[in-house]
Amino acid sequence: MTFRTDANYAAEMDRADPLADYRHKFHIPHHQHGDEIYLCGNSLGLQPIATERYLREELEDWARLGVKAHFAGRRPWMPYHELFSERSARLVGAETLEVVNMNSLTVNLHLMMVSFYRPTAARHRILIERSAFPSDRYAAASQIRFHGFDPATSLVELAPAGNRRELDMDEVEAVIRAEGERLALVLLPGVQYSSGQTFDMARLTRAAHAVGAVAGFDLAHATGNLPLKLHDWNVDFAVWCNYKYMNAGPGAVAGCFVHARHTHAFELPRFAGWWGHDKATRFRMGPEFMPMAGAEGWQISNPPILALVPLLASLEIFEDAGMPQLREKSLRLTGYLEYLLDRRLSEVIEILTPRDPAERGCQLSLRIAGSRTLARDIFTRLEQAGVTADWREPDVLRVAPVPLYNTYTDVYRFVDILENVVSAAI
Ligand SMILES: Cc1ncc(COP(=O)(O)O)c(C=O)c1O
Repeated sequence: MTFRTDANYAAEMDRADPLADYRHKFHIPHHQHGDEIYLCGNSLGLQPIATERYLREELEDWARLGVKAHFAGRRPWMPYHELFSERSARLVGAETLEVVNMNSLTVNLHLMMVSFYRPTAARHRILIERSAFPSDRYAAASQIRFHGFDPATSLVELAPAGNRRELDMDEVEAVIRAEGERLALVLLPGVQYSSGQTFDMARLTRAAHAVGAVAGFDLAHATGNLPLKLHDWNVDFAVWCNYKYMNAGPGAVAGCFVHARHTHAFELPRFAGWWGHDKATRFRMGPEFMPMAGAEGWQISNPPILALVPLLASLEIFEDAGMPQLREKSLRLTGYLEYLLDRRLSEVIEILTPRDPAERGCQLSLRIAGSRTLARDIFTRLEQAGVTADWREPDVLRVAPVPLYNTYTDVYRFVDILENVVSAAI
C-alpha cells in the first residue's frame, strides 16, 4: 500500500471510498463545532440511526398489542432472537444453527465452560494468556475452583518469551503440545484486547484438538472487525460482545457460537432454562428439560427484546456493507494511520500492535515515550481537542479507525492533533 503525507491525500481517499456513505448511517458525537474524531469503536461502537426507529416500533407494538405482540407484532417477539441468527452466523462464518445471541459475553463464557470444560484428575488445565482480559481469567479460575481444582496448578498462563510483547503462534502451539494430555481447554482471544494482535484460530484449534483439548475463543475484539470462519476453523465454541465493532449499544446482548458437531450433543452438561428447551414442546410446561438442537439450546431465559433491538439495526448495516469490503477498507485505513505515525511521530510514539496487517484488526495500540503522567496528560489533551480514543492501564493508548464510520480525514486530523498535543505537553 502506498500513502502520502499531505492533507489532500486523505480527502482524495475519502472521495474514492466506496463505503463512505455508511458513516451517514450513524450518529457521530459532536465536539464544540464539529464531529468528534471518534476512534473508540473497539470499546463502544456508535449508534446506527435506524436503532431509534426500531426501538420505537417495539415500544409501539408493546403499547398497541401488549402480550399479543409475541405473535402479532410486526416482528413477533416469540421467535425474535431468530431474526439475528442467520446474519450473525454469516458474520462469524458459521451455520445458522451454530449461533445465538443471548446474555453477555462473560455469562456466555461460563455457560460454554459448563459444557466444554470437563476436568478430570488427569486432564484439568486451562490455557489462557497472562494478559488475558481480566473477566476471562476470573471466569476460568472460578470454573477451575468450581470443579474442586486449584488455579495455581490448573490455570496455565502464556507470556511472550524475553522482552517481546507479542505471542508467537509457534510458541503457543509448543505450549499446547507440551501440556498435552493435561490440557482440557485452550481459551484464547481472536484479537488481543490490549495489543490488537490477532490469533491464528484455525491453527490453535488444530493444535488443541491434536492433544484432545477443546478450543474456545473470546471474539470481543474480532467480531465485526475481521472476517471469521468459525465453522471451517473447527472452533468448539466462541463468545463475543456486540457493543464494540458491532454497534449494538452499551452492554448489548452478546453472541455465542457452538460448533455443529456439538449442537446435538444433548448428553453434555449444561445449565438449563426454559428457552433452551425444545421449541415444539416448551409450552407444554413439562417437568423434563429437553434441550433444543443448536446454540439456541444453551439459552436460559426468554430474550430481552428491547435490549436486542439495536443489534437488528447493526446487522443490517453489516449485511449491506459486507465484511470483505469492510476488511479491505480497514487494512487501508489502519495502514494509513501507521504510516502517518511512523512519518510524523516515530520518536515519541511506539506502535505495540504487530506491523504485519494480517496479524491485526483495525486497532493500533500506542505507547507514548516518557512517563505515565505525561502519557495520561496527552490522552486528556486529546480528549479536550475532540479526539475519543481509549486508555488501558498501565500506559496503552488504543486507537481504532473503524471502516464503517471513520474517514481518512479522521485519521489525518488525529495524527495532526496528536502531534500538536505532544509538542505542547513535552
Ligand atoms: C476481550 C474482552 N473479553 C471480555 C469482556 C467482558 O465482556 P462482558 O462485560 O460483556 O462480559 C470484554 C469487555 O470489554 C472484553 O473486551
